[in-house]
Amino acid sequence: MSKPTSLNTQAVLSMKGSGYYSARTIGAKHAIESTLPLLAKAIENLPDLPVIKLADYGAADGGTSQYMWSELISNIRKTGNKKPIEILYTDLASNDFSTLFRTMQGMQGDSDYAYQTQHHDVFVHGCGTGFHQQLMASDTLALGFSATAMHYVSEKPCQISNHVHMVGANDGERAQFTKQAAADWERILLGRAAELASGGRFICMNFGIDEEGRYLGHTGGVTMFDRFNAHWAALRDDGTITADEYLRATFAQHYRTVDEFTAPFKNKNSAVSKAGLQLLSVTTRLTPCPFRVAYDNAPDDMTPAEFAASLIPTMRSWSETVFRTALEGRPETEVTAIVDKFYNAYEAEVASNPDGHAMDYIHIILEIEKA
Ligand SMILES: C[S@@+](CC[C@H](N)C(=O)[O-])C[C@H]1O[C@@H](n2cnc3c(N)ncnc32)[C@H](O)[C@@H]1O
Repeated sequence: MSKPTSLNTQAVLSMKGSGYYSARTIGAKHAIESTLPLLAKAIENLPDLPVIKLADYGAADGGTSQYMWSELISNIRKTGNKKPIEILYTDLASNDFSTLFRTMQGMQGDSDYAYQTQHHDVFVHGCGTGFHQQLMASDTLALGFSATAMHYVSEKPCQISNHVHMVGANDGERAQFTKQAAADWERILLGRAAELASGGRFICMNFGIDEEGRYLGHTGGVTMFDRFNAHWAALRDDGTITADEYLRATFAQHYRTVDEFTAPFKNKNSAVSKAGLQLLSVTTRLTPCPFRVAYDNAPDDMTPAEFAASLIPTMRSWSETVFRTALEGRPETEVTAIVDKFYNAYEAEVASNPDGHAMDYIHIILEIEKA
């Protein structure tokens, strides 16, 4: 039986389209480029296959990883390797693949990195099936990559009653998310284990909780998800939204801890270990919020209101769908007015006192190899 829309992940998570996502997520681009040394190492150790198959799982519009892939493909060609290269961009069926294909062909975005037009025998493909399944033929993938995508659970195990995100959930609800995320992580890894050729690698960087308990927007200052919750609850309390609409704005996400990410590799009898995957390294990384950095570096040139107006769109680019979906059934104009009111209230809060507001990224980075 299909899940009600409010628990269905696909319905609540698409990024804003037409390049809006990449244009407002410069931090994601910085985070991705920090993995270039790991990817370069993987390229030096490619399995010997007739076609070099690459994959980017949960790529959105492809803009944030375009420079990284352009660099890697140039490096492959610079070594004299002329083998055909196929790159598969995967995301959900609802994704804006049109922008992605236009970007890689140099019709949109930064044409300097439209690598498809700059090298021979480079083929760009798209796949609209979720990464919890196997997505390509067995034993064919040389290098898989994924950035900031696998914190989405395949389905919400429940709505969160007193918060919008699992980081603020009560123990019982949090345990349900932990269980769902563990099952999803195993499916993700088994899918990659099947696709990878022997010696192939999967490098992924995911939002998670680091050794110091830090996570996205919770790195010492104001906690972003608590502010989302406070402003959403305020709309319920002033009668703008119903109690049910408050409840339905539960993010279909789970931030795994380092232990949760590494558990399948530590257990030599796990399905993942038996499928041949081994963990080469795990690290955590804080990528500073670029909007906060810009503000801190130029306090005389930027007003608090300008800082707030730069910070909120980056949060909006990936979170808006959650709140819009919670309002399903209302006329579109009403939904837009409520969602605008919500983000405007957050922006006004930041503008009135910017202290501690930022969206630093916390990633857990895993380097995985198929034996
Ligand atoms: C925050 S964006 C990250 C985009 C890009 N990788 C980056 O780092 O900038 C997360 C992406 O993961 C996709 N996603 C979420 N769940 C997915 C799934 N089960 N299968 C494929 N893609 C998924 C979303 O649609 C979205 O495009």
